[in-house]
Order: sequence, then structure tokens, then C-alpha cells
Amino acid sequence: MQVLVVGSGAREHAIVRALANDPDVEGLFCAPGNAGMGQQATVYPIDVSDPAAIVELATGVRADLVVIGPEVPLVNGAVDALSTQGIAAFGPTKAAAELEGSKAFAKEVMEAAGVPTARAAVCSDLASVNAAFDEFGAPHVVKDDGLAAGKGVVVTDDRAAALEHALACLAKAGARVVIEEFLDGPEVSLFCVTDGTTVVPLQPAQDFKRVGDGDSGPNTGGMGAYTPLDWAPSNLVQTVVATVAQPTINEMQRRGTPFAGLLYIGLALTSRGIRVVEFNARFGDPETQVVLAQLESPLSALLHASATGTLAALPALQWRAGAAVTVVLAANGYPTKPVTGDPIEGIPEAELVPDVHVLHAGTASDEEGQLISAGGRVLSVVAQADDLAGAAGRAYEAIGKIDLVGSHYRSDIAETAIRGMIQVPTESTDTANTAEVTT
Ligand code: AMP
Ligand code: GLY
Repeated sequence: MQVLVVGSGAREHAIVRALANDPDVEGLFCAPGNAGMGQQATVYPIDVSDPAAIVELATGVRADLVVIGPEVPLVNGAVDALSTQGIAAFGPTKAAAELEGSKAFAKEVMEAAGVPTARAAVCSDLASVNAAFDEFGAPHVVKDDGLAAGKGVVVTDDRAAALEHALACLAKAGARVVIEEFLDGPEVSLFCVTDGTTVVPLQPAQDFKRVGDGDSGPNTGGMGAYTPLDWAPSNLVQTVVATVAQPTINEMQRRGTPFAGLLYIGLALTSRGIRVVEFNARFGDPETQVVLAQLESPLSALLHASATGTLAALPALQWRAGAAVTVVLAANGYPTKPVTGDPIEGIPEAELVPDVHVLHAGTASDEEGQLISAGGRVLSVVAQADDLAGAAGRAYEAIGKIDLVGSHYRSDIAETAIRGMIQVPTESTDTANTAEVTT
């Protein structure tokens, strides 16, 4: 199979790595790629926000499968354009990608499908924002309705700061802002591969969204992740597929906009049961880096089956024993104002640590061929071991060998899980599990 991977983050590097290890993959291409992906695939620096450019490249390299990593090409209709040309594409159509593209749309689908989520108000003026703050109380959760690369959400006890973010969201033309009730309890990311009908869940992971240790500082695209979640209830995946994924996929099909590709379910395990925090229409970054490291089954067959509506016939997925941890190395100033263009040293030394590999995100080569930083999240250091403590130990040993001036990373990825300190609140008698949406 000839496969083209679209994207340039560590998530796409993880996808490329898994496909490079897959005996069914004969040719591997990526666009626009980064300095690391060039080792396993041929890189084409095209503008991937333009569906026509993706179709042209896919045709040129005779791709049997195109895997779309990021949300922007999906929301722009890359999968629609490829399908029109008869090219199998992993990812949802433009209409189905609205599950991520609009938080208000996602809430509407969840309500129709009876999926448990936070109560929410979709507001287009200040008066309704204030009314929602009064109704839900603190902490206040304020979300930009549109795509914001994981940075459009503010969760705060400070009403003035919440109001300020809501006003910033509303300042855009025709904009809406979503105000939600606060969800307590640990968060879980569950990836479900689907062909629009059948749902195949992957192994759950946990992501660390805040920039600083102990979940301090602003939200980011994600600073680290680990899998599996030994602390989670044993029936979690089954419950989420039955109460969230399958009803959502059925509802999308009922609407005539079937969702195929990856449904990313961000969940909170609250005292009132599981609640959806967000849907994304693509693999999560950095969770993909650990989930695909643990996946033993060939990735191309899974993604191709999703793209061609044949998931029901796919053999059950196989997973490696043990655990994987990834720690993200971020540039000086990330997430506010990342500094780029500085040399990166020490990756070969990091990869000498057993069962460690380094995935690239914001990297580039300068004229002399020196690896330099070129984005906010620069590298994802991935480590595997027999258990979580071993994997975290290797990840931190490896990341300590990498030099990038002013760079930073969280030093507590997977720590509370290793210490057995994650508490899943026990469910109270309130078992209401229907979304209540006020618009
Ligand atoms: P989102 O972009 O919707 O995933 O939100 C980003 C992050 O903000 C989530 O991963 C949570 O950590 C936090 N968050 C979002 N919604 C809520 C909520 N209703 N209650 C508590 N935290 C939330
Ligand atoms: N890890 C969060 C995301 O990919 O949106």
C-alpha cells in the first residue's frame, strides 16, 4: 500500500513511524511533514489547508490511502475532495468534522443522541454569558465556539477573567461562545476508529493540557500523555462505546452526515458518572504518540478499513503489554509566544535510552543542516517499559539529554497515576445521563 500522511506534528510523526513498521506499507509520503518525518517518509512541503493541493499530491504519488492528521484540512473538506477522486481517505468529511469544528454543533448532536455531557449555554451576547455564569456558578468554563488549537478554553474561578475571555471570543464576526458547568474528576481520552457504522475503540490514555506541573498555568495543545490507565474502571471503554461513541455515530448517520475516521472522546469521570468534555474529529496530540506505540496490530489495515467501510471485518486489535509515556519538549515562551530558530542537540543520545524514541513536531533544518526549533511544541519523547514508573523514568532520563535553549517540559507526567493517587469519584444516586443544552 502507498500511504500519504497529512500533517506536521509529533502525532503525524507517530503515525508515520507506525506505518513505517507496517509490512503492508510499501511507499510512505507526508506533507508538509517536519525535519524528523523525512527519515521514514518522502516529505512534500505543500499547503495542506488546500484540499486541491492534497488531491494533486495524492494522485501524483498514487496513494492508496491518505491519512489526515490535523483538524484544519478536515474542516476544509480534504476528505470530500479525495473521495470525489476515488482516493481512500482516513478522516471525516467536512460536514462530519463539525463535531470538532463547532462546539455548539457537538452539543446539539450529543443532546439528540442522549450522550452525557456538561450542561452548556451557547451565547452570542454579554447578557446571556452573565446569566450562564449565574446559573452554573464557579469555576467558570468558557469555550470559543470555533477551532482554537486547544487554546480556546478558559477554566477559572475569576469571573472577571472568564468574562474577558468570553468578550474576546464574541469580538469575532458572528461569533458564539459556549459557557459550561464545571466537571470535576479525572480526564480520559478515548480514541474510537469508525467507518460511520462500526466503532473500534483504542486503548484509553490521559493527556496533560496545562503548561505547568500540578496542572498550573494556561491550557496548551498537550504537554504529555500515558497509557494504559490502570486506575480506570475496567468497564470504562465498553461503557463509553455504548453510551457515547455508538449513539453519536448513529446520530451522525441518521442526519445523513456519517462520521468516519477518528472520533476523539475527551471525558471527565465525575461523581455523577462519565461526561463528555469534548469531541475531536482526529487523533489527539500527544496521546497518539503513546497509543500507537502500544498498538501491535498493523495501522494501515485499521485506517484503510475505516476509510473503506470495512471495519466490521477487521480482526480484534492486539496491544503490547506494559506502558508508554510521552513528555513534550516545548519552546521557550510556549504557549504564549514560542521562540523559534534555536539549535536542538542530544536526540541521538536520548534515543540510546532503552525503548525510547523521539518524535518531531516543530523542527526544521537550517541551511547548514542543523536541526532547529520551528514551533511551540518541538519534540515528543516517547518511552516504553513493563510498567508506568519504568516508562516515565526512561522518558525523563532521555529528555534530560536534549538541549534547546529556554525549552521547558512538565516534570510530573503520569506521576499521580504512578503513585496511585488518582481518585475516580464514586457515583452518587444521580444517574441522569442526558445532555441538557440551553441555547
Ligand atoms: P476542550 O478544548 O473543550 O477540550 O477543553 C480543554 C480543557 O479544558 C479540557 O481538557 C479540560 O481540562 C478543560 N475543560 C473543558 N471543559 C471543561 C468542563 N466543563 N469542566 C472542567 N474542565 C473543563
Ligand atoms: N491532546 C488534546 C488534543 O489533541 O486536542
